[in-house]
Amino acid sequence: MPRIVQADRQGIEKAVAILRADGVVAFPTETVYGLGADTFNVQSVEQVYLLKGRPDDNPLIAHVSDVSTAKSLVETWDEWAQLLAQRFWPGPLTMVLPKAAIVPAQATAGLETIALRCPDHPVALELLRAFGGALSAPSANRSGRISSTTASHVAADFARVEDLLILDGGSCDVGVESTVLDLTSSMATILRPGRVGLAELQDVIGEVKSPQIESQASSPGTSLAHYAPSTTTYLVESNRLASKLESMTDSVVVLCFDATSIHPPRIAIPMPRDAEAYAQTLYDALREADAKGGEAIVIEQPSETSGLWSAIQDRLKRASCDS
Ligand code: TXA
Ligand code: MG
Repeated sequence: MPRIVQADRQGIEKAVAILRADGVVAFPTETVYGLGADTFNVQSVEQVYLLKGRPDDNPLIAHVSDVSTAKSLVETWDEWAQLLAQRFWPGPLTMVLPKAAIVPAQATAGLETIALRCPDHPVALELLRAFGGALSAPSANRSGRISSTTASHVAADFARVEDLLILDGGSCDVGVESTVLDLTSSMATILRPGRVGLAELQDVIGEVKSPQIESQASSPGTSLAHYAPSTTTYLVESNRLASKLESMTDSVVVLCFDATSIHPPRIAIPMPRDAEAYAQTLYDALREADAKGGEAIVIEQPSETSGLWSAIQDRLKRASCDS
């Protein structure tokens, strides 16, 4: 059984001791919970892959508490990185840069580049500072499944991991994973949309490429299907929701804006109309829907696509893309 512990001084000390003894710990960030290992400890990094069931060609994000640690992990820290870090760190922006030779290959799935992020969460920052190094951490969920936005989500996903320490930081503020931005070619490219949007990035460094989800195979090791409930999930436009439901059994859970339009025995999970609130609750709602054990999950697709909605649309498409 995992251990959820308070993220007080004692909790942080315990976590640091585990990390120094080749272990892994789960910790909160402002986006989702991470499952962290010392970037320079090959054994613990491998443990992270093993626990998640993560394909070994999918690289990890190294989390740092400051720019100087970030610089120590890269070959070159260019002007774009400097400007973006100044503007968005600590925060939900991950930058991909050429990696320094000293970083073990295991931490980047053998790539010559490394993804870096300084999380905007007091517990994550305190842990990183107390540890005094970088933590390579994917989202704390089973590979391909729904990310964790609470300590109990993490505990549920890793229920069989004896003594896994989970620092409790409550619910994550942002609720969807960081924006991943590739800075290794002449055109900065968004590999994964997140809270830091295209317009904000363009504001700082000019032109930025943002591929459409269908052609977005650029993040190594990530298949299109991701963030997925184990129940078959459909994403349906508002104006087609009623007819879609007519064609389905009663055993469905519906994530929708107007719960009063769904009648028992069907189960409605009401979703907020505001993007921030929608992102915050999305993974909890998907997990709740999954746990109902219905034959299918139907998600009413939001009509908006700009700003944070683009990250939400990306996750919704991936959650439903096998369907
Ligand atoms: O918000 C987040 O980013 C969370 C929290 C814990 O920080 N982390 C997270 O990690 O979402 P993960 O492993 O679930 O997703 C990392 C993404 C993957 O799509 C991976 O392919 C990409 O970042 N990535 C990591 N290193 C990369 C690299 N060197 N080049 C390109 N993409 C990379
Ligand atoms: Mg993930």
